[in-house]
Amino acid sequence: MTHVFHRDPRLNYPVAVRGEGAYLIDRDGKRYLDASGGAAVSCLGHSDAKVVQAVQRQLEKLPFAHTSFFTNEPMEALADALIARAPKSFDKVYFVSGGSEAMEAALKLARQYFVEKGEPQRGHVVGRRQSYHGNTLGALAVGGNAWRRKQFEPLLIKTSHVSPCYAYRGKQPGESDAAYCDRLIQELEGEFLRLNPKSVIAFVAETVAGATIGAVPPVPGYFKRVRELCDRHGVLLILDEVMCGMGRSGTLWAFEQEGVVPDMVAVAKGLGAGYQPIGALVVSRQIADTIQRGTGFFQHGHTYIGHAAACAGALAVQKRLHEDGLLSKVTPLGNGLEKRLRNAFANHPHVGDIRGRGLFWGIELVEDRATKKPFDPKLRMHARIKRTAMEAGLMCYPMGGAIDGVQGDHVLLAPPFILDETQLDELVDKLAKAITIPEEITT
Ligand SMILES: Cc1ncc(COP(=O)(O)O)c(C=O)c1O
Repeated sequence: MTHVFHRDPRLNYPVAVRGEGAYLIDRDGKRYLDASGGAAVSCLGHSDAKVVQAVQRQLEKLPFAHTSFFTNEPMEALADALIARAPKSFDKVYFVSGGSEAMEAALKLARQYFVEKGEPQRGHVVGRRQSYHGNTLGALAVGGNAWRRKQFEPLLIKTSHVSPCYAYRGKQPGESDAAYCDRLIQELEGEFLRLNPKSVIAFVAETVAGATIGAVPPVPGYFKRVRELCDRHGVLLILDEVMCGMGRSGTLWAFEQEGVVPDMVAVAKGLGAGYQPIGALVVSRQIADTIQRGTGFFQHGHTYIGHAAACAGALAVQKRLHEDGLLSKVTPLGNGLEKRLRNAFANHPHVGDIRGRGLFWGIELVEDRATKKPFDPKLRMHARIKRTAMEAGLMCYPMGGAIDGVQGDHVLLAPPFILDETQLDELVDKLAKAITIPEEITT
């Protein structure tokens, strides 16, 4: 009997009691290899002594000082560290406690920017179908996952959605990347024109689309074309790197690999690596200056923004990434993971697509590889895989609805940057067991 309102009260969750490197250990002593970082969170594994020590020291010194009275040392140092490694056009960091809060702040700051800039008619945000930006109402509204939105629709602000850049499903047979991009950009421009471009605040997208679609990188050139289009119409580009940023895709910012710079970028998950709940919105100088020269004050805020212990933890994570070289391990480890995934699953009868970047990979499952026909959603294949993976001592992140919010199953992988070769083998061996689909299920 529990009094906790669990995510799914029908399930019996094992009790996690300890973390040890890439493993979580439950009360019965069972070990789970964390191949998904929970949900792309635990990029340093579960027992990083330097991060733990940094949080402990900060708690002893100063746990919290409300930001309407004080600034604090770790928050200032963390902002400096992020801006030092960001493109030159960025200047300020707004700290929050997670990804949804970072996206809420982005939406409100974007709106306030246009009000202060003298364009108060701009009130519309365009997102992409199948995107996920969080579960608070603003973030949910700009997100495009039909199932997550459906029952809350009456509470959501008005937004609209265009197609994701999802080559496996969206690209037509024989179509080049450039032609596919042309189509997507035409669709986005069509949406801006339909709304009247002068009424649009921002286009919002995940640089590498994560939770609800399964680690889908954009086709080459897509974001450059998006950036040009947004610039042409004076629309802000807000990138959500809550999942794919902070090294997960191989570079600190996932957008580095796209050759574009957004106006704002949201990060969370890997920022605190699970040691502390923290998110951040990194903001261009132009936006920050407009507010500073205008009312001078961003009309927003939460009690825990800039929490000193959370910032100290995240600062220690940054040091581990850069000073201890963990960020540079992501691409070679990711290459090793990709090779093993392709060896194990390229000819698997129910694996339609293997895609990803860095240590962020997705496997899309299909009933039929030739036609790309998905499994019947009633089979809840993703839930089955999660269960069998946990039985095998593997945490991965399967999800349903990749195609349209209802159909499509994928498995997301986002292991820690500290894995060794043997653990990469263990990951793929256990995953292969979890996605062995008995024939009686599909017939
Ligand atoms: C891309 C993206 N944005 C936003 C969020 C929301 O973050 P949080 O759950 O920390 O509120 C998530 C969470 O999965 C995410 O993947």
